[in-house]
Amino acid sequence: MHIRTSKKICTSKTMAKSKVAYFCQSCGFESPKWLGKCPSCQQWNTFVEEVIEKVNVAVPTWKSNSTTTQRSNKPVQVSEITFDEEQRMLTPDKEFNRVLGGGIVAGSLVLIGGEPGIGKSTLMLQLALNMPNLKVLYVSGEESERQIKMRAERLTEVGSRRSEVGSQKSEGGCFVLTETSTQNIFKQIEQLEPDLVVIDSIQTLYSSHIESTPGSVSQVRECTAELLRFAKESSTPVFLIGHITKDGMIAGPKILEHMVDTVLQFEGDRHHVYRILRAVKNRFGSASELGIYEMMGEGLREVSNPSEILLSQRDEPLNGVTISATLEGMRPMLIETQALVSTSAYGTPQRTATGFDTRRMNMLLAVLEKRCGFRLGAKDVFLNITGGIRVEDPAIDLGLAAAIISSHEDMPIPFKTCFAGELGLSGEVRAVNRIEQRIAEAQKLGFEQIFISKYNLASSGKDKKHIDLSRYKIEIKTVGSIEEVFSMLFG
Ligand code: TYD
Ligand code: MG
Repeated sequence: MHIRTSKKICTSKTMAKSKVAYFCQSCGFESPKWLGKCPSCQQWNTFVEEVIEKVNVAVPTWKSNSTTTQRSNKPVQVSEITFDEEQRMLTPDKEFNRVLGGGIVAGSLVLIGGEPGIGKSTLMLQLALNMPNLKVLYVSGEESERQIKMRAERLTEVGSRRSEVGSQKSEGGCFVLTETSTQNIFKQIEQLEPDLVVIDSIQTLYSSHIESTPGSVSQVRECTAELLRFAKESSTPVFLIGHITKDGMIAGPKILEHMVDTVLQFEGDRHHVYRILRAVKNRFGSASELGIYEMMGEGLREVSNPSEILLSQRDEPLNGVTISATLEGMRPMLIETQALVSTSAYGTPQRTATGFDTRRMNMLLAVLEKRCGFRLGAKDVFLNITGGIRVEDPAIDLGLAAAIISSHEDMPIPFKTCFAGELGLSGEVRAVNRIEQRIAEAQKLGFEQIFISKYNLASSGKDKKHIDLSRYKIEIKTVGSIEEVFSMLFG
């Protein structure tokens, strides 16, 4: 009896010393024992042991001595809550401001994810260099000071003009810190008092509160939590660069995305020069905004008029090529959609869509086959959205359907014609939102006719106001069904 008790005490003591837990590296699920399959995300073999014991030594975290006193909040009526407009810092980069919902919010924590080599470090360093009035601290755990300096020189004249990059003499400017320990970073932050902090990348940081290796789930979570506390308490915006895994998820626990205020995704085809910055989550604005950049030899250039780059310059109409008026976030954009329909060489026809959902393509093909009688079942169909961008707006259905038929029938779509309409399963052309913005953009770019749904005329938006067609110079063709479109186009 006696022995047992002492044994018990002994084990519990050793347990306390090196407390370990198992974390799913895919979703961050925590378990006291190893599991083969994650009960949360159903992935196999994702559990890794991590030491999670907190070191009780007084290591400074972000102002650990000024610990917030436990205060409890009382419920208040919504009408009684007063609030001030959140302060926003405008950057010189208009695309960036728009994606963030109108500038950087004070005290916000923003996560930027993207594949390696897509340009995350370039984007953030460029931003840091272009804000000479602000003190920006660029913390890099991935590159040396020299490498960053070389990149800065390459980026802008600003980089070379400020030869004191990294020195602490000037008032504003970009300061570079190569450090991976959060405790040391906070020490430097307390001295420098920056207006903005960039962390490149969150997976390289480690906190001495946790014993597991940098990049592990518990480290990433702890470091983010410390930075979150810092951002909120000091009202300093913090940008975190995050790696993504091979299936496009931000590496580390999903919980990371819940902790931050905003998640931005920097994406693009590495073989194309265009890069897209997309808000995936935004507590301070719309999550459907999009910023477009062009990767040049000397950094990223904002593309403020995307329609111009997304439309190829040609002199004559081609088969299988149409223009659709889409909307990304609040911005209207004209994009080129291409289709190639050819006789299949094999028994099973190939269906490939680039930049567009394959399931939706199959639906369009089924509608064209069933409702319009086109024999597409034995054909290979390839769809492509030019410029390497991905479109989810259903308003490109009509343009894609027209492109498919144009290629199938070998008849070109008349020049300077564009489309904006969603296709229903019975072949009806459905109304799309913000039609007036789309029409106006098409007119601005010199299009002569646009096909839209007739249901768009009845009401536009919530306020049910009628569209005044006479306001536009562009010819507006209203259609109710896909057959109508084809008889108007191909006679
Ligand atoms: P980088 O910002 O290092 O990517 P990430 O941090 O997302 O891994 O971008 C590296 C790529 O960008 C590299 O392939 C070279 C290219 N690049 C340019 O084309 N022009 C430039 O001015 C810079 C700095 C990089
Ligand atoms: Mg990088």
